[in-house]
Amino acid sequence: MCGIIGYTGNRQAKEVILSGLKRLEYRGYDSAGIAIANGAMTLLKDKGGIDHLISILPEIRGKYGIGHTRWATHGPPIKNNSHPMLDCKGEIALVHNGIIENNVALREELMKRGHVFRSETDTEVAVHLLEEFFEGNLEDAMRKTVTRLEGSYALVAMHSKENGKIVGARNISPLVVGVGKRENFLASDVPAILEYTDRMIYLLDGEIVTLTKEQVKITDFEGKEIKRSWQKVEMSLEGAEKGGYDHFMLKEIFEQPRAIQDTIMGANLNAESGYTLGLRPETIKIIACGTSYHAGYVGKYMFEELAHIPTTVELASEYRFSSDTTSKPLVIGISQSGETTDTLSAIKTAQKRGLDTLGIVNIVGSTMTREADSIFYTRAGLEVGVAATKTYITQLIAMLSLAIKTGVATQSLGIDDARRLTNEMKKLPKNVRSVLDQSDKIFEIAQEIAGARSMFFLGRNINFPVALEGALKMKEISYIHAEGYPGGELKHGPLALVTDETPVVAIAVKDQTHGKMLGNIGEVSARGAMVIGIGTEGDRELEKYVDHVIYIPDVPPLFTPVLTSVVMQLLAYHVANILGCEIDKPRHLAKSVTVE
Ligand code: G6P
Repeated sequence: MCGIIGYTGNRQAKEVILSGLKRLEYRGYDSAGIAIANGAMTLLKDKGGIDHLISILPEIRGKYGIGHTRWATHGPPIKNNSHPMLDCKGEIALVHNGIIENNVALREELMKRGHVFRSETDTEVAVHLLEEFFEGNLEDAMRKTVTRLEGSYALVAMHSKENGKIVGARNISPLVVGVGKRENFLASDVPAILEYTDRMIYLLDGEIVTLTKEQVKITDFEGKEIKRSWQKVEMSLEGAEKGGYDHFMLKEIFEQPRAIQDTIMGANLNAESGYTLGLRPETIKIIACGTSYHAGYVGKYMFEELAHIPTTVELASEYRFSSDTTSKPLVIGISQSGETTDTLSAIKTAQKRGLDTLGIVNIVGSTMTREADSIFYTRAGLEVGVAATKTYITQLIAMLSLAIKTGVATQSLGIDDARRLTNEMKKLPKNVRSVLDQSDKIFEIAQEIAGARSMFFLGRNINFPVALEGALKMKEISYIHAEGYPGGELKHGPLALVTDETPVVAIAVKDQTHGKMLGNIGEVSARGAMVIGIGTEGDRELEKYVDHVIYIPDVPPLFTPVLTSVVMQLLAYHVANILGCEIDKPRHLAKSVTVE
């Protein structure tokens, strides 16, 4: 996690760094800091987000500098643990994203040699190593420093005596160079610097970059120079603004019809191309984290129904420790950021096992796009809210598209059926809009549940993972304890917790689970729970069982998760908003999780 930025050029570095940090804030917001060099080093950092930093920042002039926004891993979010870190002499400043795993041993060793540590972070060892190795050239010192570090890092450093020079190094954590005219930039991701340049060079693992305003020099850790030209990035900054909505999350929920449409177009689903995929796996394993994991779980049902391919879903952080078996599945990694360390490591594990890997990724140029054997891009655009919404919906579209293509490839699905499903899919943007139109009604229901301390979300079959996602959305932004369960599993434990103080959201759409879901709803309402049903338009029976009902348009059962999920998103959003929560930046969370 954490967001880092560096600048050298003719502008006042402070402005560039602060605007970049604002865009990086989704990566962490426990504390923030900035260092500007101008003959001497000026540093300011504190607990709290970027707005707080701006409010306490004096006028600092200087044309090169670095900045950081933190998501705490080692040491609580206090001022001393904030970045940038300084060496003992106050000449070198350093920011870091990642975890230095051998920091305890290094700290002991450096302290024995007289270094004074001011923080509890793993990062600080790196700045003291730079200090030891510095003999007039920070790039050389960085090269020696990385030989001592184990773990993941994107490091950016500068020395007050090396005017205008910024040095970065990468291992696992992302770092991108922005190439400007007589100015250059370094950042954790593209949007941080897109305001200034769209010419980017992605740094790879094991590389060091040295920037001056005139030059970008990339070498490997041994010092061998690497020639790599910049790529023009097609990304709009519009996505990074709220555009009249109160929160990015709400804006992103309402952008879903467009995101779905773009992703369907990108999927190239047409009979003329023969629904080609080139993949006919015998089994599939889907690996991901968080919301992406839930999208993968929905995908399992799609692959099994449309392509008849046995599909398992595993959390990326668990897959890495699983045993290799004789089965040789196609491994599909899903990650909106393409930077989640656990998912990237799981992809590597799969590759070491000789398995083919396919990445479903939203961010073009992210690490996963280089590491997986093939890539399917979701086209959600930039998502800023920490709680994933439009990126998740487009992951469902990716799953559907791939399942249709795989179904055709394995001949489980005829071209006519594929065409029919594709046509149905194209109606999804309109259908999502009709769910969005019910936002006011969902707000009214949200008012009734905002006082709850605990909730349950129920679903069955393909809507079971949607219940998991509904519960996740609710807990991450409203802080109400929520659990997702398959309806049939309630009686094996959770029912003991159901009272008139535990609202239940039950997905009871018209599919083969409908009757059973009505039974489950009966079980919880008999215990006094208020039930919010999500049903299919025209289902008057459901109304008799529940306190409130939200209807979705009548679509094929496999498509219902796209619509039931939107109801859940709006419900969580309104509850969190009523409770006055920090919706776009929930406590303790970050959008891109680059720690294991
Ligand atoms: C974090 C985010 C989630 C996201 C998960 C996986 O926990 O807060 O919204 O689902 O990481 O991220 P990825 O980028 O791999 O989809």
